[in-house]
Amino acid sequence: MPGIIVMGSQWGDEGKGKATDQLGDRVDFTVRYSGGNNAGHTVVVNGESYAMHLLPAGILNEKATPVIGNGVVIDLSVLFEEMDALIERGVDVSNLKVSSAAHIIAPYHRTMDKVTERFAGKRRIGTTGRGIGPTYSDKINRIGIRVQDLFDSRENLHAKVEAAIDQKNQLLAKVYNRRAIEADRVVEELLSYADRLKPMVTDTPRLLNEGLDAGKVVLFEGAQAHHLDVDHGTYPYVTSSNPTAGGACTGTGVGPTRIDRVIGIAKAYTTRVGEGPFPTELNDEAGEWLRTTGGEFGVTTGRPRRCGWFDALVVEAAAVANGFTDIFLTKLDILSGLDTIPVCVAYDVNGVRHDHMPMNQRDLAMATPIYEEVPGWHEDISGARSFEDLPIAARDYVKRLEELCGARISGIGVGPGREQAVMINDLL
Ligand code: GDP
Ligand code: IMO
Ligand code: MG
Repeated sequence: MPGIIVMGSQWGDEGKGKATDQLGDRVDFTVRYSGGNNAGHTVVVNGESYAMHLLPAGILNEKATPVIGNGVVIDLSVLFEEMDALIERGVDVSNLKVSSAAHIIAPYHRTMDKVTERFAGKRRIGTTGRGIGPTYSDKINRIGIRVQDLFDSRENLHAKVEAAIDQKNQLLAKVYNRRAIEADRVVEELLSYADRLKPMVTDTPRLLNEGLDAGKVVLFEGAQAHHLDVDHGTYPYVTSSNPTAGGACTGTGVGPTRIDRVIGIAKAYTTRVGEGPFPTELNDEAGEWLRTTGGEFGVTTGRPRRCGWFDALVVEAAAVANGFTDIFLTKLDILSGLDTIPVCVAYDVNGVRHDHMPMNQRDLAMATPIYEEVPGWHEDISGARSFEDLPIAARDYVKRLEELCGARISGIGVGPGREQAVMINDLL
């Protein structure tokens, strides 16, 4: 089972970091393929918590080679800060490989992200403000700066930066009333990272494909999630990349024939950060209870996450479009203590029942959840290590979600710790 994708099936923060870590030292390469430091992936080992933004969470497993693929956008200051913080905690990061084709988040991308969000007012997306959208826009616009540009001549890099800031300076001055960006300063800053970055720059498609040829296990660690995907998500309330399974191929240079498993990570309830439709959102005590009990505050921005009950239509749509072979269900332990648990099994849109997510955003925005009440349980399940350790009601809840989502649930998270999981089917 050498090529495995781990990806989010809802709106992010499902526990991808923990699920990645779960695969442990059987993984040879751990690869980020999309997004940037908008992600926040938590891993808890021996009671110590690590939050990874740009580095793959699998970097904590010393046997695996960590890789940042071409589909990722890299803020170099964040990369080195994150590496230094891990080095300080005794984690070996010396083996990190970075694609020469990955795009760089420059200071002006962060500026553009912030000013456009502020300017949008009520129409804002609620981005993380990390410059993600503007960097991907430049990539698609063919005026991006790539890792390899830092190793070209200074003149060539300068010309590329000039091309990238030309229009932005007009906008900044005339629309946003901000100071112009100076190309010299940008070039200076980017080049200040070049020496440290150089030894990491690798022909990552070749590295990964040769690894697969040799039977190595490559884990593609998704950031964000299906419903934040720029093509498949709740557009325009999405991120600007493809966190979906196809993104693992375009974002690394590994063909679809080499992917053996796609594991969708799903939280046992639903959360979302930022703006956009969320049919099962709870703006009441129950939502507050989920947020407090589940500790639902953003790892990247600290924002309180919007919370609601499990929406089977959301995860089912992700399972279909990504070909999930398995689901890893996280945070089941958080639901202990409820008499019954509502599960959204369909939507009502203007009096019409929808058994699948509607294909138009306008319908989704007007969807009211139709709930099925599933019996809850009161036992603390954080110590469960096998399916049989779970109370019958918890087992039935899992089985019902499996039926509704159309993919087998192969693992269950019962706490944040590395050991707090129930495995039903081997993920490798
Ligand atoms: P990611 O972005 O998908 O990696 O998820 P985040 O790290 O942003 O958010 C998931 C949060 O839930 C983190 O604080 C994890 O430590 C925690 N977590 C993950 N799995 C479980 C679980 O099964 N039970 C509990 N209680 N916490 C979990
Ligand atoms: P992980 O990998 C949750 C959301 C933002 C915003 C939208 C666009 O930890 O699951 P962006 O800065 O990407 O342009 O913001 O996407 N978002 C996330 N929400 N988890 C994430 O990552 C996210 N990354 C981006 O809140 O709504
Ligand atoms: Mg997160």
